[in-house]
Amino acid sequence: MRNIAMKILGISFSPRKNGNTVAMLKLALGAAAKAGAEVELYSVAGKRLEPCRGCWSCRETGKCVITDDAVPELLEKMCAADGIIFGTPIYFWGMTAQAKAVIDRTISLNKPPHTLNNKVCGAVASCGSLGMVDALKDLSYYMVQRRMLPANQVSAYLMEPTDLKKMPKCREALRLLGQQMAALVKMKFKYPDKFYKGPGSFGTHTK
Ligand SMILES: Cc1cc2nc3c(=O)[nH]c(=O)nc-3n(C[C@H](O)[C@H](O)[C@H](O)COP(=O)(O)O)c2cc1C
Repeated sequence: MRNIAMKILGISFSPRKNGNTVAMLKLALGAAAKAGAEVELYSVAGKRLEPCRGCWSCRETGKCVITDDAVPELLEKMCAADGIIFGTPIYFWGMTAQAKAVIDRTISLNKPPHTLNNKVCGAVASCGSLGMVDALKDLSYYMVQRRMLPANQVSAYLMEPTDLKKMPKCREALRLLGQQMAALVKMKFKYPDKFYKGPGSFGTHTK
């Protein structure tokens, strides 16, 4: 029987090309590849990224009006993937500005097949001392709002990529994340159609 193709995309939102976040993502993606996934690592390092302008043109068109280096191609890759692992360093108790810019601009992914619905989503975060819970919590809310299926999250205290070599339990957790991503993608999770309509979360101020 032919294997079903599954694509897992790891995104590094670090401005460092070969930093800790990339090292973490490589381990997780390597395990996903061993589990049969087609994997890709995308780094925003060196790319020009603009934040969302709040113009709401995307409501009509399903496309973001900004044509910078990275985001249009990255949004395409996100839509084509079955699973996504977000990777961010912690900058002042949160995700990097690059991560936030891309995440905000996914508001444009609102017309099928350009949505993130049902995609499996894991996360990795690297930091020097404090703040990873805050960033991972924000990513968790995001996954719910975008109707994704949350997978594991792995965080680590890392100052240099070589630090990861000395952390066997963290390495194992990253491999497990990759395996889990592949296993969850194979399950073909799908929200019932009824729940695609309206916002993924509801505030009591909404009438
Ligand atoms: C501007 C800036 C802010 C940072 N803020 C924090 C922070 O709030 N908490 C923390 O633990 N580490 C902080 N760090 C350290 C990085 O999160 C840490 O070195 C991380 O592993 C870098 O990942 P990378 O190699 O993938 O870029 C900061 C680093 C920079 C450059």
